[in-house]
Amino acid sequence: MDKAGRIDPWSSEQSTDYARIVNQFGLSSVDADSLPNPGMLHRRGIVFGHRDLDVVVDCMSVGDPFGVLTGLMPSGRMHLGHSMVIEQVRWFQEQGADVTVAVADLEALATRGTSLAKGRETALREYVLNYAALGLDPENTSVYFQSSRPAVQRLAFTLGQRTNISELEAIYGFSGDTNLAHVQAPLVQVGDIVHPQMDEYGGLRPIVVPVGVDQDPHLRLTRDITQKSNWFNIKQRKNGGLTVALSVQDSNRSELGVLDSGKVDKECRNSVMSNIESSIIELGFSDVKSNPKHGIIEIPAATATDKFRIRMKLLSIERKMGGMGLLPPSSTYHRFAVGMTGDKMSSSKPESTIFMDDPIDVMAKKVKRAISGGQPTVEEHRRHGGDVSKDVAFQYLQYFFEEDDNALEEIRKGYESGRLLAGDVKQLCIDSATEWLDTLAEKRSQWEDSVDEFLAKDAL
Ligand code: TRP
Repeated sequence: MDKAGRIDPWSSEQSTDYARIVNQFGLSSVDADSLPNPGMLHRRGIVFGHRDLDVVVDCMSVGDPFGVLTGLMPSGRMHLGHSMVIEQVRWFQEQGADVTVAVADLEALATRGTSLAKGRETALREYVLNYAALGLDPENTSVYFQSSRPAVQRLAFTLGQRTNISELEAIYGFSGDTNLAHVQAPLVQVGDIVHPQMDEYGGLRPIVVPVGVDQDPHLRLTRDITQKSNWFNIKQRKNGGLTVALSVQDSNRSELGVLDSGKVDKECRNSVMSNIESSIIELGFSDVKSNPKHGIIEIPAATATDKFRIRMKLLSIERKMGGMGLLPPSSTYHRFAVGMTGDKMSSSKPESTIFMDDPIDVMAKKVKRAISGGQPTVEEHRRHGGDVSKDVAFQYLQYFFEEDDNALEEIRKGYESGRLLAGDVKQLCIDSATEWLDTLAEKRSQWEDSVDEFLAKDAL
C-alpha cells in the first residue's frame, strides 16, 4: 500500500495487513459457519473478507442461478499461489455456479508487453490445462480471451463514460505519463466482471469474483461504475424502511419522464412509477408510497435484507426500458500464503513457490530449504515447540495439501508441543505435496488433448 492507502494491482508488492485492508476498504468478514459445505479455505479463515457474498449464498440456498468469474494473466508459469482462486471457483461451481474465465491477454499486452499470440499459448498450455486438472467441470465452464470478445471491449468503452482520470488517479495512482493501454486495462476488467450478466452471457444474476486483495481496486471501480449506471437507486429511509429513487441521467431522461425543458412529463413519469410500484407489491409489500414528481417510492416495511430482491426487480425493469441493468459484483478475498523464501511467491523467483509441474525432487528440495518455525536446537525445540505461523511447510499443508482438518490439527499440536521437529513437518509436507502434484500431473495428461472443451466458441 502506498502513503495514500492505494494498492497497485500490477506491482510485485503484496499487502498482507488484512485487518487494515478490511477496515480501510470496508470489507465484510467471512463467517464460514454461514456457508453451505464451507470449503477448506473458508474453514481455515484463508478466505477472510467479502463484499455482498450473502447475495450469492442466498442464491445457493434457494437454487437460484449465480455465476463465478475469474481472470488470469497469461504470463509466467502457474504456481500454488494461482491455485487458491481456482480452488474457490471449484467450490462455487459445486454449489451451483456457472463459471466464466477471462484470459487477460489485453491486460498482459498492455502491462507486460506479452503478444496476443504468446498470451494465448501460455494461457492454454499453462493455465487452462491446470484448471482442468484441478477439477473444474467443462460442462459449465467457459474460457474466453479479452481480445476476442467484443462485448467485453464494448462494455469497457461504454462504461468508461462513468469514470474519469481523477478517479483512476485516486484508485490506481495513474498520472500524466501513464501509458494509455495501461489506463484501458482496468476498464476492460470492468467489462470482464459485468458482462456475464448480459442477456447473451447468462442474463441478470449475481456474479462473484474471488480474488486476492491486490485486485480489490478493480472491484471498487466496477461497483462504483455499475452503481452510477443504474436508473434506480435504493436508499435506507430515514424513519426505517427503504426508498427507491429515480436516477435521471443524460441517457435516460426521456424514458424517466423528463422533458427537454426540464419539466416532468406526468403521463410518462406516472407509468414508470406505477410499473415499479406493482413489482414491489408483487414482492409482498402492501404499503408503498409514491411521489411521482420527485421520482421517489417509499417502502416503510422493507428491511436491509429485502434490498436484493427489490434491486433485482428494479434492474429487470431498467433492462425492459432500455438500460443496462447491472448488479454490482460480489467478491471474496483470500490471504496469501508466504513465499518459501520468506517474501512473496512469484513466477520470476522459482525458489519462492512450487510450480504446478515441478518435478517431485525439485519440490522436495524447495520444501527442505524453506523457512521453518523450529527452534535453533533440538533440545530447545523439544522444550518450546515450533511456531506454525512462521513455518512454510505447515502453512502449505494448511493452504494447499492437507484437506483433513483433524490431520492438520494433529500436526499443529505435535509441532507446537515439540514432539514433531521442523524436519518432520517438512517431510509430512513433502509427502502430501508429492501426492498432490502426482495427481495433478496425471489429470493434466488426461486433459492434454481436450482443453478445447473448456473454451467458449469465440475462443476456439
Ligand atoms: N487483473 C488480473 C490479474 O492481474 C486478471 C484479470 C483480468 C481478472 N480480468 C479479471 C481477475 C477479472 C479477476 C476478474 O491477475
